Amino acid sequence: MQLLAPAPGEHVLDIGAGQGVLAPHVVVRGARYTGVDASPRLIAAARRRHGRIGRFLVGDARRLSLVKGLVGGSCHAAVFMLSIQDMDPLGPILTSLDWALRETSRVVLLMTHPSFRQPRHAGWGFDASRKLVFRRIDAYLTPMAVPMKALGEGRATRSFHRPISSYVNGLASVGFAVDAMEEIPDLASPGGAPGRGRDPRTEAEIPLFLGLRARRG
Ligand SMILES: C[S@@+](CC[C@H](N)C(=O)[O-])C[C@H]1O[C@@H](n2cnc3c(N)ncnc32)[C@H](O)[C@@H]1O
Repeated sequence: MQLLAPAPGEHVLDIGAGQGVLAPHVVVRGARYTGVDASPRLIAAARRRHGRIGRFLVGDARRLSLVKGLVGGSCHAAVFMLSIQDMDPLGPILTSLDWALRETSRVVLLMTHPSFRQPRHAGWGFDASRKLVFRRIDAYLTPMAVPMKALGEGRATRSFHRPISSYVNGLASVGFAVDAMEEIPDLASPGGAPGRGRDPRTEAEIPLFLGLRARRG
């Protein structure tokens, strides 16, 4: 929300909105909210929860111009909250973004940090000789689709890893330049004393989430 900073009268588009958890935070700042998601079930849940304050549309982030109710060039800001790494390929997503946003606009991407949290290719380790918790990274530059375990009875999904340059250069290709970046550690469950795989000092040093804001116009 710090990066997005919705202003009164603005129209914010939440792409991959899920159950619409962002809607109240946008609307309370006086902006209008539209959430788009490919899942009819999640959009139905979003409408039940937040349908009175926001608008929720079923649609594919790669083909926003086909989403009934969306008007090209009408949004002041877009946000992908933990959704862009569930989408592929990046090219059509950016073309869609270009279509939906105004000439003067901004976009915020919040994602798991591509440099430090690639699914299956990063994790905490413990160097016994130095009694040191460290972050292990064994792949970064190569884009990859990583199968993710299904939650409950859900279907297995894929997470798409891309290096940060894919996002920065992709955004630039549709006129957006990055003007702010937040690197956020996961301090939700602070560990105990340093030991195998947990050390609050290391956890505070390694950002597991990345927020990027880019503007044009
Ligand atoms: C991890 S969830 C995040 C949901 C929400 N932003 C949140 O933070 O609660 C990712 C969402 O992206 C949606 N999604 C994946 N691919 C999509 C696509 N091509 N177009 C629109 N939504 C998509 C999924 O249905 C899912 O709701």
